[in-house]
Amino acid sequence: MTVESVKPAQPAAPQLPVPPLAGGGVPVLGHGWKLVRDPLGFLVRLRDHGDVVRLKLGPKTVYALTSPALTGAMALSTDFKIDGPLWESLEGLLGKEGVATANGPRHRRQRRTIQPAFRLDVIPEYGPIMEEEARALAERMGSGEPVDCTSESFRVAVRIAARCLLRGEFMDERAERLSVALATVFRGMYRRMVIPAGPLYRLPLPANRKFDRALADLHLLVDEIVAERRASGQKPDDLLTALLEAKDENGEPIGEQEIHDQVVAILTPGSETVASTIMWLLQVLTEHPEHAARVAEEVKSVVGDRPVAFDDVRKLSYTNNVVVESMRLRPAVWILTRRAVTETELGGYRIPAGADIVYSPFAIQRDPRSYDGHLDFDPDRWLPERAKDVPKHAMSPFSVGNRKCPSDHFSMAQLSLITATVASRWRFEQVSGSNDATRVGITLRPYRLLLRALPR
Ligand code: HEM
Repeated sequence: MTVESVKPAQPAAPQLPVPPLAGGGVPVLGHGWKLVRDPLGFLVRLRDHGDVVRLKLGPKTVYALTSPALTGAMALSTDFKIDGPLWESLEGLLGKEGVATANGPRHRRQRRTIQPAFRLDVIPEYGPIMEEEARALAERMGSGEPVDCTSESFRVAVRIAARCLLRGEFMDERAERLSVALATVFRGMYRRMVIPAGPLYRLPLPANRKFDRALADLHLLVDEIVAERRASGQKPDDLLTALLEAKDENGEPIGEQEIHDQVVAILTPGSETVASTIMWLLQVLTEHPEHAARVAEEVKSVVGDRPVAFDDVRKLSYTNNVVVESMRLRPAVWILTRRAVTETELGGYRIPAGADIVYSPFAIQRDPRSYDGHLDFDPDRWLPERAKDVPKHAMSPFSVGNRKCPSDHFSMAQLSLITATVASRWRFEQVSGSNDATRVGITLRPYRLLLRALPR
């Protein structure tokens, strides 16, 4: 036995100071009331207190990171895992065994299973479905009725995810049901996360019943999709086959519950994020007609008069920059959390084991220290000669590290294709009853964007 081995374990960061406490807390509630009243404004202003700040949410201490370098350092470090109140409430509703909430060896194994379906060289196989769905959306916009961007964006996002990744028969009807169920579930889920008043949600009120029905339908649909694939005896080379054939750490087939939770864990982050981003893209095309016109000109010069095809997307650099700039200023994912698995250090401060840490991509992507004209909508800032000046991790809408979104290429391809397809065909204006103010939920999106589509 060596002398070292009998010494008491040394904490990792014993001498380091604790981060400063953010200003503006009140007794009992701490900063909680500010976070509920004006979450985005509160998170943006935290940077004035330092790169790492302590928040009091009731009796609980939470640590907030406000610099891109530290958010990147945390995402890339093994000292943190996915956990905390946000994830616990998600697990309760969507299942505990899916990739989005798992940690450790199970998470690594699940990532290995799903990753092939999202590989860059596989994405072109989804091209025909993406083209078809983008054109169908543009077609529906010409119905003469105001375009309800919330339901249309959900529809196209869910249809693309379900048709590309799960295939199967009756997917048209199922994608439609999925998009209605998911839209309702997401609305209710955020309320349940920020106001965790369990018994209240069990009361037989119309809103609760609607939520319960939508959640039950979501789980039922997933069971139907899995059962139908099994009954078909077919094994196409797709994500669902990969999930059904997956083996656990011991080489045994994975359980039914895990298969179910995995499908849910891919469909849910895959629909709300893309749908919200499409809503913002439509809002941007409406608010900035000059940028929309440039997108249309670019499409015309690259594509001519035929419909935009999947293969055109990589040549549409201005359109891609509009998508990225829209995601910078109006990110769907506005807050992310982690939990420290061990005592550790961030930015020279001590972070205790078990601490919950939050950061806001919304705040990071609007930081004047990272962006000139930080609130200007300026797609050309993503031209290579200017983009090189953007600090590392100041624009990571899909995050980095082991929890990075597997769907970055899949998402960017469809977002650019949809933007090019609709902007080259239509100009937009808001109609009465439309409200494009930011609605804070699980994702950020406009409250209720209603548009009139005018031929370009
Ligand atoms: C994870 C963003 C679309 C599936 C994530 C994370 C971010 C993100 C930031 C990391 C969360 C964290 O660090 O805690 C986005 C954005 C999207 C998008 C901005 C679209 C604009 C999609 C789509 C799918 C998807 C289309 C699937 C079809 C997932 C999954 C995870 C994830 C399964 C969990 C990964 C893990 O924990 O290992 N996404 N996402 N996402 N995303 Fe996406």
